[in-house]
Formats: sequence, C-alpha cells, structure tokens
Amino acid sequence: MIQRYEQQGNIIFHGDTVNVLKNYIPSESVDLIFIDPPYNIGKKFGNFHDKWDSEAEYVNWAYQWLEECIRILKTNGTIYIMTSTQAMPYFDIFLRKKLTILSRIIWHYDSSGVQATKYFGSMYEPILHCVKDKNNYTFNADDIKIEAKTGSQRKLIDYRKSVPTPYNTEKVPGNAWYFPRVRYRMEEYENHPTQKPESLLERIILASSNEGGLILDPFAGTFTTAAVAKRLCRKSISIELQEEYLKIGLRRVLAWQEYKGEKLLAPQKNHNIKNKDGQKLDTDCIQRSIFDANTTA
Ligand SMILES: C[S@@+](CC[C@H](N)C(=O)[O-])C[C@H]1O[C@@H](n2cnc3c(N)ncnc32)[C@H](O)[C@@H]1O
Repeated sequence: MIQRYEQQGNIIFHGDTVNVLKNYIPSESVDLIFIDPPYNIGKKFGNFHDKWDSEAEYVNWAYQWLEECIRILKTNGTIYIMTSTQAMPYFDIFLRKKLTILSRIIWHYDSSGVQATKYFGSMYEPILHCVKDKNNYTFNADDIKIEAKTGSQRKLIDYRKSVPTPYNTEKVPGNAWYFPRVRYRMEEYENHPTQKPESLLERIILASSNEGGLILDPFAGTFTTAAVAKRLCRKSISIELQEEYLKIGLRRVLAWQEYKGEKLLAPQKNHNIKNKDGQKLDTDCIQRSIFDANTTA
C-alpha cells in the first residue's frame, strides 16, 4: 500500500521505491536524482536488514530502480548515485552503457571513533555523477566555487595583465570532496544510521539544478535531499519504505507536527551520557564509534 503526501511542491511517498517509480512517476519528468540506496553491508533500517543473499541479487535489485530512474530523468537531467566501494564497479559498468559518467567523486570524511587496525579503514564513499546528454545538462559552476588552496600566505598577483591584479582564487571543486559526517551534536542530526550531511547535498543541488527544478530521492532516509531542496527553492519527490523515517520527512519537509496522533518531535538529545563508573562520555564520540564500527563502505 503506497501513501502519498504533498505540500507546496514537496511530495513524499511511503512505500517501495520500484513500485512508486514504476506506477507514479512519469517519464522524463525529473531534473535531478540523488540516489543513496542500501549498500548491502548489513545496516539496520527499521525492520529492514540491508543484506542480500548474494552480490548478484543486490545488483539485480539495484538495476530495477536504476532503469526506472533513467526513464524518469529529463533529457537534460543529472543523476548522482552512491553505494559501497565494493558495489560501485557494478553500477559504474551498468551506467556507462546508458548515461555519460562525468565525474567519479569521492566523499572523504574524518574518523575519530573505532577505526580498522589490521587493514586500511574506509574513509570515503564513492559517488557517480552522470547525465543523459553530455552536450546539454545543468552545471552551475559559479554557485559552488570554493577558495583555491594556493599554499601562499599573500594574494598571488597576475603580472601578465596590463594592470597587475590578484589572481582569482576561487575554483570549481575537484572530485575529492571533504565534508564532515553528521554528528550527534549537530543541529541537523536525526536518528538514522546513514544520514548524509546537508553540506554534501547543497553542493549537488546547487551545481545540478535550478530554482523551481524538481529533485527526486528514491531512498529518502532522513530526507536530507528534500530538506535542502526546499531551502534552496527547488521542488522535491522523496520515497521511503520505513514508517519511522517517513515521520522524519513529514516533520522536516512538510512541517507536520503530528502523525496518527503521535507528536513529531526533533530528536531529544542527551549530552550527559555517563559510563558505568559515572564518568561523562563525549556524545559525539559515542555516535561516531557506532558509525565507524558498522561502516565497511
Ligand atoms: C542509505 S539510507 C538513505 C539515507 C539518506 N540519504 C539520508 O541522508 O538520510 C537508505 C534508505 O532507504 C530506505 N529503503 C530501503 N529499501 C527501500 C525500498 N525498497 N524503498 C524505499 N526505501 C527503501 C531505508 O529505510 C533507508 O532509510
């Protein structure tokens, strides 16, 4: 049973993504799709266990929603897709036959919790940036420029100009992105095992869509994509299977205060967690340790 909720250009579907995409989303109707699916690495999403019996079953499942995403993408549209480092080669080979892969991005992050000691622990997740038409797609370079690291303390002067002027120190970011993961103490924190940071989605949405454009997230989780899309004056479609995460979306994106008689509240945080000896623990580290211990992406 699929439920649909809508408010001011933001739509939420509660149901299975393949079913929703197939039956509710018209062809060539979406400007930008951000896909952050289960990675097949054994996380728990509510009552859903992110582990398939074999890699082949996982990728066959993934190809179903990938085909649908390609169908609903506008001819000048863009897809960003994430998965585990071990599954990404399958997606890459599948997608390069159907789309143009413009960039192979890595999202690199810090780690302060439990880290591997017998191999090189995972410190990044891969992202593919793909378009349907390599000669016609949105890329708002000026909206995502960052300060270039020249290594110089002083502004470098370009003496080739008729009047020497400081070099333009802003540039489009390369394909290695650093953004901190969402921490317990951060304002945007929600109770979900794989919440993506708003900063990551902000770069993607600013670069690859325009105000008023339609952005789809087929695995919404904490609805980061839709929350950032709304803040940046875009419209959104989000799909999520688990009711406990649907409630985050209803609160975060549609500003609902109640669902089926239950008050929808932002996470109530406890910054005074103590260990068995009564010592106060660093709540960020607790959150991070859980994350690190589970991550094999
Ligand atoms: C990796 S998380 C997405 C996290 C999200 N990007 C965020 O920032 O919070 C994947 C999400 O997909 C949901 N999911 C799993 N299978 C699904 C399906 N068949 N249809 C729709 N959602 C599904 C899970 O409940 C989980 O919340």
